[in-house]
Amino acid sequence: MNKIIVAVDGFSSCGKSTIAKAAASAFKYIYIDTGAMYRTVTLYAMREGMISGEGDDKTVDKERLQQAIDAGKLKVDFTLDPETNKPLARLNGEVVEGEIRGLEVSNNVSNVSAIPFVREFLTSQQREMGKEKGVVMDGRDIGTVVFPDAELKLFVTASPEVRAQRRYDELQRKGDTEVKYEDVLKNIQERDYLDTHRELAPLKQADDAIVIDNSNLTIAEQDELVSKYVQEAIDKANK
Ligand code: DC
Repeated sequence: MNKIIVAVDGFSSCGKSTIAKAAASAFKYIYIDTGAMYRTVTLYAMREGMISGEGDDKTVDKERLQQAIDAGKLKVDFTLDPETNKPLARLNGEVVEGEIRGLEVSNNVSNVSAIPFVREFLTSQQREMGKEKGVVMDGRDIGTVVFPDAELKLFVTASPEVRAQRRYDELQRKGDTEVKYEDVLKNIQERDYLDTHRELAPLKQADDAIVIDNSNLTIAEQDELVSKYVQEAIDKANK
């Protein structure tokens, strides 16, 4: 049975990972969250004091970051949680899954993910991870840049307000009760702008992607739809 690559791209907090995880588990494929990889590099840069300034004046010390990457000081990978079997992002062997999801990393990640050598560094790792196929990878540029020949490309979207509410609820559940809905919405709008307007690998729908707007879909409806698309793509690859 030939395996395929499923590319899931879309805006921040639109449920890409829910779709990708469900598809990976239904078809026994490996799930790869590429946003977690950009977040982990961002956390490294923050910890090393490589990010300064605020808003439009925010700057990343690219020279030092490049040196760290070139010197092999920055290792990004995943390990499986022994209890839940879920992938956990690691920075140089340390599990950083909790830290990379906070608003602080979210506020810096677009600046770091716009840097060409960071994208090269992570894109080549992602291609390596997918070379045996049998992966569901979610991100912004999977169907356009990382795997332009992916057998199935999904482009997920929902309104900014629906996405902000979901992200806000998630943060509340995790005990981040200080955070305000307005700040989450603002962060989503800012990231939408930066993700779609950056020069390199901007978020855009691949010509051959299937669009899923899940603003009004239940998780069960969404899973059913996605499973149907994945099964069709697998059948096609095995004809
Ligand atoms: O999916 P996420 O919100 O965890 O992604 C975090 C950030 O990383 C997002 O603002 C854009 C960036 N990203 C990217 O540029 N390319 C990817 N393939 C995945 C994420």
